[in-house]
Amino acid sequence: MLLYTLVIQHAAQVLTLAGGPTNRPLAGADLGNWTIIERGYVACVGDKIVAVGPMDGLDLAHLGPETRLVDATGCVVMPGLVECHTHLVFGGNRADEFERKLRGESYLDILASGGGILSTVRATRAASEAELLANALHHLDGFRRYGVTTLEAKSGYGLDRDTELRLVRVARAAGHQQPVRVVPTFLGAHVVPPEFKAAGPRAYVDFILREVLSDLKGEAAFVDIFCEQGAFPLDVSRYYLEQAHKMGFGLKIHAEQLHDLGGCEMAAELGATSVDHCDYLTPAAAARIARQTAGQTVAVLLPLVPLFLRQEKFAPGREFIDNGLPVALSTDFNPGSCPSKNLWLALSVACLKMGFTPKEAVAAATLNAAWAIARQPDCGSLEPGKRADILVLNVGSVAEIPYWLGENPVRDVFIGGQ
Ligand code: NIG
Ligand code: FE
Repeated sequence: MLLYTLVIQHAAQVLTLAGGPTNRPLAGADLGNWTIIERGYVACVGDKIVAVGPMDGLDLAHLGPETRLVDATGCVVMPGLVECHTHLVFGGNRADEFERKLRGESYLDILASGGGILSTVRATRAASEAELLANALHHLDGFRRYGVTTLEAKSGYGLDRDTELRLVRVARAAGHQQPVRVVPTFLGAHVVPPEFKAAGPRAYVDFILREVLSDLKGEAAFVDIFCEQGAFPLDVSRYYLEQAHKMGFGLKIHAEQLHDLGGCEMAAELGATSVDHCDYLTPAAAARIARQTAGQTVAVLLPLVPLFLRQEKFAPGREFIDNGLPVALSTDFNPGSCPSKNLWLALSVACLKMGFTPKEAVAAATLNAAWAIARQPDCGSLEPGKRADILVLNVGSVAEIPYWLGENPVRDVFIGGQ
């Protein structure tokens, strides 16, 4: 008889995220239609979930002296949060620019003056590998306390060969030194570094393609680029992603953050796993992406970014959902446009400013976020066979999750059943 090693029982609600299609991310009505079990349990053996159901179906024959029983009376139990878009590894901070922004300077003005991303590049190049690792571990500990159990981490503050490779190495090392699983993405094409200012964006991406990407095979699953005024234009972004795709990398893009340049549609056409930001993506373009990709490309929306950049425009999430585009939610944690690790706050702002329902917001930060980093086979829902990444929350219903604005509802975090 199979003996359970962990049983989380008597939950007021188990948010399974199960019940939708399994061959694509949740879209349209499916985003809010997954199964909630009232008075339920989750059972695990080792690092895997083996059973999920209502309490009256819990088979006591599977309980032994070694079974750890966790009482979740009055609590919501749900899958660990999946943070599918962060810039985890960087040196310094930009509190000084926060003050400039409060006085009225814009994000792109600060970048054009040599600050913004470029000031973090200077601080990151100056930091030692040990310092960068210590910072990353500190931030990962914070994410874990918020219930994040899998996290994507982009490079992008080195913009030279050695520093970019160091940032990917640090992300991987950080993933091995604590329990949150880290998925590295290469964002060497974040902005054009000072060394390539005269030569221009195309020369810089040619340098990356020639000198850096071949060393990243097996180290980073995804390649990302910032397609925006002051960063990379559409044609260079297309060229770069096409080449990266030929080299076997999955594709991501930062696009339609501050202007509509057509980056999301371009990347989706190339088979991008996700298109991120999308504040200026139109509902009509969202519908085209959904159709052209058969609902495979996920739009990662980052509601704390327009909030922090004092921008009026938020991605029209409601229209994206109604037009069939799969959406995920993330913080975009980074020192410039979102120095917050509070993904719960992002869910609340998604409800308040993007038109999400609480159930849709939860799905966007779990199962669809897992799809956005191609980790859906083993995380994002509470289903037999998936990794035992499970949260017990100090709230009694799914509606309370985005309601307690700014709070951390997490009581217990299990990662791989521990
Ligand atoms: O996703 N938009 C481009 N990159 C980051 C911000 C990086 C920074 O400001 O340091 C983002 O918002
Ligand atoms: Fe970002």
